[in-house]
Amino acid sequence: LAAGAAAPAQAPAAPQAAPVSKEVTILYGSQTGNAQRLSEKAAKTLEAQGFQVTVSSMSSFKPNSLKKVQNLLIVASTHGEGEPPDNALSFHEFLHSKRAPKLEELRYSVLSLGDSSYEFFCQTGKEFDVRLAELGATRLQPRVDCDLDFEEPAAAWLNGVISSLSEAQAETAALVAAATQATPVQTAEPVYSRKNPFRAEVLANFNLNGRGSSKETRHLELSLEGSGLTFQPGDALGIFPENDPELVDALLTELKWNPEEQVTVNKEGDVRPLREALLLDFEITVITKALLDKIAGLTGSEALKELVASDREAVKAYTAGRDLLDVVREFGPWNVKPQELLGLLRKLPPRLYSIASSLAANPDEVHLTIGAVRYDAHGRERKGVCSVLCAERLQEGDTLPIFIQPNNHFKLPENPETPIIMVGPGTGVAPFRSFMQEREETGAEGKAWMFFGDQHFVTDFLYQTEWQKWMQDGVLTKMDVAFSRDTEEKVYVQHRMQANRKELYAWLQEGAYFYICGDAKRMAHDVHETLISILETEGGMSREAAEAYLSDMKKQKRYQRDVY
Ligand code: 2AM
Repeated sequence: LAAGAAAPAQAPAAPQAAPVSKEVTILYGSQTGNAQRLSEKAAKTLEAQGFQVTVSSMSSFKPNSLKKVQNLLIVASTHGEGEPPDNALSFHEFLHSKRAPKLEELRYSVLSLGDSSYEFFCQTGKEFDVRLAELGATRLQPRVDCDLDFEEPAAAWLNGVISSLSEAQAETAALVAAATQATPVQTAEPVYSRKNPFRAEVLANFNLNGRGSSKETRHLELSLEGSGLTFQPGDALGIFPENDPELVDALLTELKWNPEEQVTVNKEGDVRPLREALLLDFEITVITKALLDKIAGLTGSEALKELVASDREAVKAYTAGRDLLDVVREFGPWNVKPQELLGLLRKLPPRLYSIASSLAANPDEVHLTIGAVRYDAHGRERKGVCSVLCAERLQEGDTLPIFIQPNNHFKLPENPETPIIMVGPGTGVAPFRSFMQEREETGAEGKAWMFFGDQHFVTDFLYQTEWQKWMQDGVLTKMDVAFSRDTEEKVYVQHRMQANRKELYAWLQEGAYFYICGDAKRMAHDVHETLISILETEGGMSREAAEAYLSDMKKQKRYQRDVY
């Protein structure tokens, strides 16, 4: 709750009583679909208030029509290292270019989505906000930057927007209250959601890697029976995990806290024993500068204050790989009430995993491919919260709170005959298993080419027999594998692409869709560079032309990425 809704405003909000048009345009830039969903929800609420609303992705909005817009709401997430999401790229570039018009008639407000553990938190939203003001537009309502737990600050932002948009603010506030009470159940929305997760039973949970592998990749099968939940290949599943009980107990011991003490865990005032709250409700494995700052403020620790005041790199070096236990051991224990310290922590956010199965092939089930994250840092073994829960503690028959996270930016082509190229090393394989199941089940006839990679052929070829069967049955046309640690020289998926560049180029020219799933930092970047190189050598293009070719593919939805 603490890091929730910062609302820095450089310019004053528009006068509340000014007359406003009833027309509102909402533009979203969305990577995982949250910004899109929030926009669609905001549109419904505004329409219920009598506004005429147009909702559109930034990529399908004609920037020249911006001059005609009077009331603009922007909902934008931030991607990677502070970059705009794919479908916001061209609009973002247009606004920041010389072609951008003066927008003195425009009133606007920005809702930005992000993750405060990243350095460039909500960067894209901030940039839109600043740029629109530069172009002469007036803020209806200060920008709100949302952290992972975005529902509440987003709702507060929308209420503020509605108030500002309406001539009589008090009257509107009453209307808003009435509308939110009158329309809690939208028939189109499933009963279970992120807000009201479904408890899915674990049907299977096993390690896909063979003995001797340095990796542990869990294959999880969950039951959706009775949930009414559905999904499409390419969608993700959200899991609300539990923190490691060993870590929680160590924290309780270190802080000399009573595990049974009753604490409040949310704004609704729900109460539970402290140990349970630390297991279920709060993030204790990620440390940010903002959190250190707040702990220093609460505890008065001079040493912590000094650390927070040191330069950016030093703070970064400290927070990397450390958790709350490290901070308590180094700077604590403090004489503070559990409730006070909990008030500084973020809610434990759900983890998202690309779904590895298709409903057509496995009705009422959802499968996941989860790599267990374990590493040593600062003298202690660190464990990924959700992945290690699945690997070490989750048994068949247990249940997990889950929800579906649709991803409209990672979808099979509508035409079943369109060829697809899939690049998915490691756990990046997951959505492509879903694609293949779907294409097999629906009898799709398009060609399909898979690039898979991992460390060793013998232990790490995930779903090997399934791929072999799809090859035999013709669902899969071609498969190239790269096992990086079987040979002296490392072989990666992009090396396999290079070796096949003529054919790969021919597929692209035939209109193939190109998909990447997996590691964002290095792999996705290297694969992108390899695509550029193939377009240069095979298509005789300059680097600029190759980049334009790929952005064109993006616009046509033929280049899609699900990277993390
Ligand atoms: P490595 O760990 O042996 O370097 C799945 O994790 C596979 O992706 C592994 O074989 C891993 O190889 C490989 N990988 C690591 N970095 C990569 C990169 N930049 N591009 C493509 N594959 C990479």
